[in-house]
Amino acid sequence: MIALRADLLDFTAEPDWGPPSMAGVRWRPDHWLLIGDDGRIAGVQPGDQAPGAGCRCEDHRGRLLMPGFIDTHVHSAQLDVIASHGTELLDWLERYTFPCERAYADPALAARGAALFLDALLAHGTTAAVVFPTVHKVSAEALFAAAHERGMRLIAGKVLMDRHAPDGLRDDVDQAERDCVDLIQRWHGRGRSSYAVTVRFAPTSTPGQLAMAGALCGADPSLYMQTHVAENPDEVQWVRQLFPQARSYLDVYASAGLLHARSVLAHGIWIDDADRAQLHERGAQIAFCPSSNLFLGSGLFDWPATAAAGVQVSVASDVGGGTSLSMQRTLADGYKVQALLARGSGSPLNAFSALYAATRGSARALQLDHEIGSLEPGRMADLCLWQWSVGAVDGHRMARARDLHEKVFAWMTLADDRHLQAAWIAGRQRVGRGQRETG
Ligand code: GUN
Ligand code: ZN
Repeated sequence: MIALRADLLDFTAEPDWGPPSMAGVRWRPDHWLLIGDDGRIAGVQPGDQAPGAGCRCEDHRGRLLMPGFIDTHVHSAQLDVIASHGTELLDWLERYTFPCERAYADPALAARGAALFLDALLAHGTTAAVVFPTVHKVSAEALFAAAHERGMRLIAGKVLMDRHAPDGLRDDVDQAERDCVDLIQRWHGRGRSSYAVTVRFAPTSTPGQLAMAGALCGADPSLYMQTHVAENPDEVQWVRQLFPQARSYLDVYASAGLLHARSVLAHGIWIDDADRAQLHERGAQIAFCPSSNLFLGSGLFDWPATAAAGVQVSVASDVGGGTSLSMQRTLADGYKVQALLARGSGSPLNAFSALYAATRGSARALQLDHEIGSLEPGRMADLCLWQWSVGAVDGHRMARARDLHEKVFAWMTLADDRHLQAAWIAGRQRVGRGQRETG
């Protein structure tokens, strides 16, 4: 048994939107969190109640212990193009992203890239993720293997793209189906991995490939599905030309059998009320990617309208369109997007709603809240220990916070990977200042 003493923050339910309240917020300053030998959370008790003998105790008083963050949309092969200048989505894909992804046909490079990516995620306090590798089967294999080695919760799948992409980045329907079936057999449900049927986006799959992907989902409802939808106006226009019979971009996926309770659709900026109703009806979620949406000039996602329609919304970095793997930076950008949308019409995103969406909320949307996203006994001990402040400015601001929301909001807005003190995956410490377990 391990016991960690710190300030514990997690959520028991979805906090209220709008002015912050403590509903759903579980704040336990100076408590012990107990981790069993099975890597799961065993219990929580006040700091003045010493854990029993035989417990390895670590005193981190004055630091913040939270469930690890969940990034519901990120590209493992795009660290090479993060922060590339000057373009919008379609040109960015052609100019930077596609050329960089081609290199992932090489198994050795794919393995190095997967290890670098997962270690970078962990170093930012993200302990679970929904990930796009590349079109190459070896890139998905390398990513699953690297996550398995680290004990990390991963949802991923080989990217499907059989048109409108350069040589070296296209598959075909039959080969793609064989690769998916093989990867599903190898990885879906093995350790902490799940397979996601991964359609890059409607323009890069033929109707035949979309139908194949939909059939895979239909055959096994435990599979996830991930894709992009309605990110950029030029993209939406292109989809309208390619699929003239579809009512909307989202409807292309719905018609192919790709819209269900395990579907994770990134962006959803340029959707309408009928799309929101359909997302709600199918139980699919939107991964809000504010850093990417700002960086690529894609638009402002209307989170309140989407939530009001009953659609689950999670938060994602979308690196390399997004400019940081840090979920605090992502949420800070999310706040700014919602502040622009809320102008004059009420209260923008509060820190509790934001942090819920990046932990228990995304776990729930992924149907994984029995495993991750909170500090409930029985959940996996995927944990992050954070410093409240690192630099002169955030320490100064934090000292002036008058209540918990003010403190947590300032932390969310000012913190990043510099603030991570340690991270545990299934109770094993994987990141720590000056120390790191491997193997
Ligand atoms: N749409 C299709 N592919 C991509 C991608 O790699 N990143 C983003 N942001 N949007 C996409
Ligand atoms: Zn993306």
